Amino acid sequence: MQTNNIKDLLQSEPSLHEVVINGWVRSFRSNRFIALNDGSTIKNLQCVVDFENFEEALLKKITVGAAIKVTGNIVESQGKGQKVEIQVTEVEVLGEADPEEVKKTILSPKRHSLEFLREQAHLRIRTNTFSAVMRTRSKLSFAVHEYFQKNGFNYMHSPIITGSDAEGAGEMFRVTGLDAKSPILNEEGNVDFKQDFFEKETNLTVSGQLEAETYAMALGKVYTFGPTFRAENSNTSRHLAEFWMIEPEVAFLDLDGNMDLAEDFIKYVVNYAIEHCADDLHFLEQRLFDEEKTKPTSERSEMSLLEKLNFVRDNNFKRVSYTEAIEILKRSKPNQKKKFKYIINEWGADLQSEHERFLVEKHFKCPVIIYDYPADIKSFYMRLNENTQDDRKTVRAMDVLFPGIGEIVGGAQREERYDVLKQRMEEMGIPLDELYWYLDLRKFGTAVHSGFGLGFERLVQFVTGMGNIRDVIPFPRTPGNASF
Ligand code: 4AD
Ligand code: MG
Repeated sequence: MQTNNIKDLLQSEPSLHEVVINGWVRSFRSNRFIALNDGSTIKNLQCVVDFENFEEALLKKITVGAAIKVTGNIVESQGKGQKVEIQVTEVEVLGEADPEEVKKTILSPKRHSLEFLREQAHLRIRTNTFSAVMRTRSKLSFAVHEYFQKNGFNYMHSPIITGSDAEGAGEMFRVTGLDAKSPILNEEGNVDFKQDFFEKETNLTVSGQLEAETYAMALGKVYTFGPTFRAENSNTSRHLAEFWMIEPEVAFLDLDGNMDLAEDFIKYVVNYAIEHCADDLHFLEQRLFDEEKTKPTSERSEMSLLEKLNFVRDNNFKRVSYTEAIEILKRSKPNQKKKFKYIINEWGADLQSEHERFLVEKHFKCPVIIYDYPADIKSFYMRLNENTQDDRKTVRAMDVLFPGIGEIVGGAQREERYDVLKQRMEEMGIPLDELYWYLDLRKFGTAVHSGFGLGFERLVQFVTGMGNIRDVIPFPRTPGNASF
């Protein structure tokens, strides 16, 4: 007999056919009602046992967390909340869970803090919150591929181990096969990477962008979707040392087209979640509502989770230049009253997350795209604008800022002019010999091109309403934490 999944079963009509379902016990009430979950949906299946017909020894083993196999008939439910339930004819306990052990874990049926759940990351997926988040994460991954595949992009696997620093920010994890205790030294007494596995210094990638550019300049439209690594010591609710990034790169596309692409893409995947994750989002909306009830009214959001998702899908993102953004910030109340930690005094200041959040949450009250940033605070590969009258140097960069999240996308039109790029790299101390291949692209049929990177976990945070990025990735890696 075929085993069924609970998601499908809950949609089906009562029938005389026997069905078999495997799952984990969420609760067992009155020796009669098993709430069974198999991960296919947030909903549990009610399985009704006539305890008179079952051995007591067997019933004793039906405990919270146990894996069981249930055989029975689908009948109309007498109880509230579900259309059908299972009248059980047979139960097999596949894997027991000792109640005394369960009591010490997050499987015990009571409210646990997200911090406590994080300590037991191998079990937390058995909870409603995490199963809802991770099912949504899975659907969003699919939506990412669907969007790009439908729109003629090629999925490109950029390398995980690289010999270059794509962001030029020096936040890399080294990859080495050398003995950490006694590495081979060269004549100057430094570690001799010529003796290392790759015969040079290598690291985990911080971004697949530079490699993606080479592919865009042949395939036209490409995207990457893979893990990226940053050794930045940021202990915040929005930073991970290992995160997944989506990086489209498109030939013959300028910055305006790049902004259109980012906006269209985000709206598509958000809509996909609204349409395909209704049960999970409904649960997560209620969770967020309960969580916010504990906060002062001024910190609660005005919209519910689904209202926020609909808002993003249905409204245009506001586009403002960096220069306009600085003017708004300078005149803003928190700046004048010195409420910001970093006061904005002049053009050229880097925007901190407090400024980004002010613009998005207080000033514009919608997603914002800031473009044309000062060249000095952005990466070497961004297209230099012609100088303005007052000689301010800006680059064709863009950041998409989201409510509650801050920066969700960073991107740019790329510098396609060989001489300008070379000069920028020299000025910024980017090693030309290591990135000769990147410069080469500008010698053989160079063209305007653009792309961006979207932090997948920040997207999942936005869609699920989870406040901490550690709770939207299965096994988070952060400073001081790489358990499991
Ligand atoms: O702004 P970033 O550093 O841009 C790049 O890496 C470009 N090479 C992308 C490109 O143009 N192809 O990172 C892009 C996005 C950020 O906007 C943010 O959403 C996410 O990646 N991100 C992080 N997410 C989680 N943890 C971190 N430590 C992150 N650093 C960046
Ligand atoms: Mg950025």
